[in-house]
Amino acid sequence: MAKFLVQKSEPLNGEVYISGAKNAVLPLMAAAILCDEKCVMMDVPDLRDVEVMKDILTALGAKIDAPQTGTLEIEFPNITTNEADYELVRKMRASILVMGPLLAKTGRARVHMPGGCTIGARPIDLHLKGFEALGAQVIQKDNYVEAIAPEGGLVGESVYLDFPSVGATENIMMAAALAQGTTYIENAAEEPEIVDLANFLNKMGARIKGAGTDTIKIEGVKYMRGCSHTVIPDRIETGTFMLAGAITRGEILIRNVVPDHVKPIAAKLRECGVIVEMGDEGMYVVADRKPLTSTDIKTLPYPGFPTDIQSPFMSFLTTVEGSSTVIETVFENRFMHVAELNRMGANIKTEGNKALIRGGRGLEGAQVIATDLRAGAALVLAGLVAKGTTEISEIYHIERGYEHFVKKFKNLGANILRIDD
Ligand code: UD1
Repeated sequence: MAKFLVQKSEPLNGEVYISGAKNAVLPLMAAAILCDEKCVMMDVPDLRDVEVMKDILTALGAKIDAPQTGTLEIEFPNITTNEADYELVRKMRASILVMGPLLAKTGRARVHMPGGCTIGARPIDLHLKGFEALGAQVIQKDNYVEAIAPEGGLVGESVYLDFPSVGATENIMMAAALAQGTTYIENAAEEPEIVDLANFLNKMGARIKGAGTDTIKIEGVKYMRGCSHTVIPDRIETGTFMLAGAITRGEILIRNVVPDHVKPIAAKLRECGVIVEMGDEGMYVVADRKPLTSTDIKTLPYPGFPTDIQSPFMSFLTTVEGSSTVIETVFENRFMHVAELNRMGANIKTEGNKALIRGGRGLEGAQVIATDLRAGAALVLAGLVAKGTTEISEIYHIERGYEHFVKKFKNLGANILRIDD
């Protein structure tokens, strides 16, 4: 199994270019199921999760080409099955996103309960509630879930989500795009990835309004044409590099950023004394001008502070003087990095969904485990400022979601090495 060896590094310095967003491209790829022609996607990151989604779509009958780096062409001459393979689906939770489009397009979808990061129970009840509201019959048996549309296809309806789930909003939006009549998703997720998906679907001929607000209106259409689309920059990768600059007290320029998408991260870093400024060339993060101070964060659905940046931010908070609290409200089991950071000498206590960080003690290298994708990134950040060497195992989690991770960090002066055991 491959590992990362991270050594205490000089303050990071230089430029980094942000890739297309993992969480945007996966639903876009699934949405290609709805389309009768070829869909072209640009700025597609080279990630393991993208490979898994390619395999899932290919098994469903897709013809996928990559004419050049970062470009994907997806076409479905035929949908050969409406069942997503267990071996593929168990690798990635986002594979559930094929369910809505398959159901809308073929009238039936059967998918194994998805896998992915172990950051909580992560049920799919809200996705299923949405399909049922559109008239589908949902059957759950032997770890499989099957949805069957009524004769004549799905029918538009109002769907209220108990929680603004990103995946459920995407799945229901895709299913409703080809339904008869109008669907309203209320208490919808407002994440930029939802807006990107709506823009993509609208280019294909869908009639979607309100994406990016808590109410999305979808007027069903009969046919979706091909289109081309550039994936939005990855706001979580952006946040990770903002924190890499901050934790090492460095000075970096981050290119290909949508500043609005990372507002809560920038606001919190500024509160701690980090300079975050947009210039003509991108976002400057400067953390070497004055001593930094503690802060409190609480994760929330967008536009609140992103849960995916909670663990990298916590690594940073271990390095500033004073006490900080972190409250996680989106996932119920997202503190697995705490034990690993404490092994590196951090002083973090948790109680339920609250963590108290007493910062400024100085970290030491240790053998730690990347328990999930973002926790893995958090440990790399900690390793950059810890005395000695930090050995991080189970890095396949990190490689699921960060493109050219080692190369980008090395370019900024980080001392990081990937080794195969
Ligand atoms: C997406 C992101 C993930 C991010 C998360 C929250 C992708 C591929 N992944 O995941 O990186 O951390 O949004 O910003 O885009 N829930 C239910 N029932 C459901 C669905 C969700 O109870 O049917 C709960 C989940 O258990 C969790 C919360 O809602 O506690 C948020 O989940 P959701 O927004 O659906 O996250 P994902 O779409 O899985």
